[in-house]
Amino acid sequence: MAQIESTPSFVQAAYDRMATSLKVVRQRLNRPLSLAEKIVYGHLDHPGQAEILRGKSYLELRPDRVAMQDATAQMALLQFMTSGLPDVAVPSTVHCDHLIQAEVGSSPDLARANTENKEVYDFLSSVCDKYGLGFWRPGSGIIHQVVLETYAFPGGLMIGTDSHTPNAGGLGMVAIGVGGADAVDVMAGLPWELKAPKLIGVKLTGALQGWTSPKDVILKLAGILTVKGGTGAIVEYFGPGVDAISCTGMGTICNMGAEIGATTSLFPFNHRMADYLRATGRGEIAALAEGFAEHLRADEGCQYDQVVEIDLSTLEPHINGPFTPDLAWPLSKFAAAVKEKGYPEELKVGLIGSCTNSSYEDMERAASVARQALEHGVKARSTFTITPGSEQIRATIERDGQMATFTAVGGMVLANACGPCIGQWKRHDIQKGDRNSIITSFNRNFAARNDANPETCAFVASPEIVTAFVLAGRLTFNPETDPLPGADGRPFMLVPPSGDSLPRKGYDKGQATYQAPPEDRHRIDVKIDPASQRLQKLEPFKAWGGVDLTDLYILIKAQGKCTTDHISAAGPWLRFRGHLDNISNNLLIGATNAFNGAVNRVKNQLTGDYEEVPKVARAYKAAGIDWVVVGDENYGEGSSREHAAMEPRHLGGRAIIVKSFARIHETNLKKQGMLPLTFADPKDYDRLQEDDRLSILGLATFAPGVPLTLVARHADGREDWIMLNHTFNAGQISWFKAGSALNLMGGKAKQ
Ligand code: F3S
Repeated sequence: MAQIESTPSFVQAAYDRMATSLKVVRQRLNRPLSLAEKIVYGHLDHPGQAEILRGKSYLELRPDRVAMQDATAQMALLQFMTSGLPDVAVPSTVHCDHLIQAEVGSSPDLARANTENKEVYDFLSSVCDKYGLGFWRPGSGIIHQVVLETYAFPGGLMIGTDSHTPNAGGLGMVAIGVGGADAVDVMAGLPWELKAPKLIGVKLTGALQGWTSPKDVILKLAGILTVKGGTGAIVEYFGPGVDAISCTGMGTICNMGAEIGATTSLFPFNHRMADYLRATGRGEIAALAEGFAEHLRADEGCQYDQVVEIDLSTLEPHINGPFTPDLAWPLSKFAAAVKEKGYPEELKVGLIGSCTNSSYEDMERAASVARQALEHGVKARSTFTITPGSEQIRATIERDGQMATFTAVGGMVLANACGPCIGQWKRHDIQKGDRNSIITSFNRNFAARNDANPETCAFVASPEIVTAFVLAGRLTFNPETDPLPGADGRPFMLVPPSGDSLPRKGYDKGQATYQAPPEDRHRIDVKIDPASQRLQKLEPFKAWGGVDLTDLYILIKAQGKCTTDHISAAGPWLRFRGHLDNISNNLLIGATNAFNGAVNRVKNQLTGDYEEVPKVARAYKAAGIDWVVVGDENYGEGSSREHAAMEPRHLGGRAIIVKSFARIHETNLKKQGMLPLTFADPKDYDRLQEDDRLSILGLATFAPGVPLTLVARHADGREDWIMLNHTFNAGQISWFKAGSALNLMGGKAKQ
C-alpha cells in the first residue's frame, strides 16, 4: 500500500463504493437517511447482511484512512509490528505534534524537542518508511489541522488515534477518535467495528453576529448536552444557519464535539467546504463532491433520535469552565459568575490556537482585536501565547501580518504543535499549587491538563474572546459592554472582530515537513534498544484461564470524575507512551479514592499502609493477586489513549466496574482483554468496601446480553450479590478469552 494521499482517483473510488453500498442499504431500510447514516452505512463491510439498529447493533466498517499522532502512534505501531504484516492496508499517516514542550517560543522549543525526542522520532520515521505510512515531522503541525488541510474529504470515513479526530467533520467526513488497537485492526486490513451510532440533530438557524464565533456553537451545545450527552451518538448539524459558518469554523465545532462524548460530529457538504478544498489545492475533489452532493447531505424527512435547535443570531459568546468543558457561561453572565464562585479574577495567561481554533479565520479575527489595542497604544496585560495549528497556517499568518500583530501586542508564538493543550508547557509564572486563572481557545480544560497544576482554573472560549481578555488582564471584562483604558488614559471600546475566512493570496505552504516512504522500504530495519526508557517491545497478555475470577482486591474505588487524564496522566508522562512498563507508573495517580477522599493514596491490603496507586498495583502483581477498579459515572471520558486500558492490564487488573463508561475507553478495555462492566443498579457502587474480596461469576457462559454476577465478600463475612451488565458482543468475548484482541489477530495468546 504505497497510496497515502486522498487523490481524486482515490476519492472517486471511495464514492463508487459508497454509492453501491447505499443502494443496497436503501433497499433494505426503505426510509430517508441522515448524512451520518449515509457515510457510515456507505462504508459497511457487508451492506447486504449487516444488522443495522441504531444504538444496538455492531457495524463492521471499512474506513478510508487512519491518522495517528506521535504519542498514540508509538503503541499502535509497536502493536502493528507484532502482526507480522509487510504494509499498512489503508492510507495512514503519523503526525509529530504531542511531544513538543512549550517554553520560550517556537524555534528553540522545536530544537529542544528534536533532541529530547530523537529516539522516538527516529523510531516513528523508520516504522513509517518500512510499512508505507506518511510521516509528518515535528513542526509540521497538529494532526487535525494537517488532516483537514490535506487528507479529509466529504463523505469519507476516517479513524484517528486522538479524540479530536472529529475535526474533519468540518469537511463532511465521518472522522472518529479511537484507541491505537482499533488503528492496528484497520492498518492490518481488518474491518473496524462500531456500535451503530444514534443521531443527534442540531438545527442551526440565523447567522453569527458580532463577537460570537463558531466556537460558541459548541460551547453552548456542551452546556445543553453536558459531557455525557453525546455518548454513542453522531452529532449532525443541519438547517439554514450552516452556510453562515466557514469550513474551518465547522471544523472547530466538530472538534469540540469530543467534549460532549459524541462519537463524532459532522456537517453536510456545502459551498463553504468546496471553497476550502479549492483554497487548499484540492479543486478536483471539490468538483467530485459537487457531483456526488446528493449523497453528502441528509435526506428530507430523516429522523434523529434527539434534536437541538440553536439560533445563531441570538447566540452569545460563551466561556466554559473551569475544570469541565460543559460549565457554560454566556459572556453577559460570566463576570458575575467569576465573582460569585471566587474564581481568581486576574487572568494570568491567555492561549490561542491549537487544533481547535487556529484557522486563518481564527487568526484574522483575533488579530483584528489585537490591532485595535495597538492603535490605542495598549499591549496584552496577561501572558499571551499563539499556537499555529500547522506549518501552512504559520507561514500564511507570517506573510499576511497577523503574527506580527500578535508579537507587537506582546504575544509569544509557540511551535506548530499541541504544547500547553496537552500539558507540554514549562510554565514559569506560577508555582504548582498556586490558584490562578487561564483562558484558552483549546477544547479541553480538565484539572491540571494544561500545566499539571490542579489549582489552575482553565476556561475555554473563542480566540477572539481570549485575545480581548488578555488585553484587559482580567476575567471580569466584557468586551461587549466594558471599555479598555488606552495608553493616553482615555477609555475605548473594542469593536467586534472581523476577518477573511480564507487567505486572499492563498495559503503559503511554508517549509517542507512531510516525509513519504521510500521505494525500497522493506529492507529498512526498525530498531528498539532493549535498554530504552521510552520504547519497549510488547509481550502478549495472558489468555483467560477458563474459570471465573475470584478473590480479587479493589485497587481503588474512584469517586467522581475519572477521565483518561486521571487514569493515565499526560504531560511529563507522554515521554513513556512507547514503554508500557514505565508509563504504568502513572496508573490512576489522578483519581480520587472514595474510601479516604485522597488522590493517589490507596490501602495496600498486604501491609495495611496507604501508598501510591501504581505502587500498590505492582505489589499485588508481584504477589500474584488480581484486582479490579471500581468507578463512578462516565469513567474514562476524555481521550482515546489505550494506555489507560493497557496499564491496568499490565499491572494485574482484570475488570473495571463502574456506573457508566465513556465509549472509546470501554472498547479499549475490551481490546486489552479487560472486563469493562457496569452496575445494573448504580447504587450498588455504594455497597463495595475497601477490604472486600470480589468474585466475578458467569464467565464460563459469558455471552452477549447476559449479565455477570459480582459477589462482594465483606470483611465481616457478609456477602452482597450484585448484577453487572456488559456490552460485549461475540467477537469481543473472544478477545477477552484470548487475552487481548491482538492476541487473537496474531494467534499469539499465551496460555
Ligand atoms: Fe493536540 Fe490539544 Fe488538539 S492535544 S490534537 S491540540 S486537543
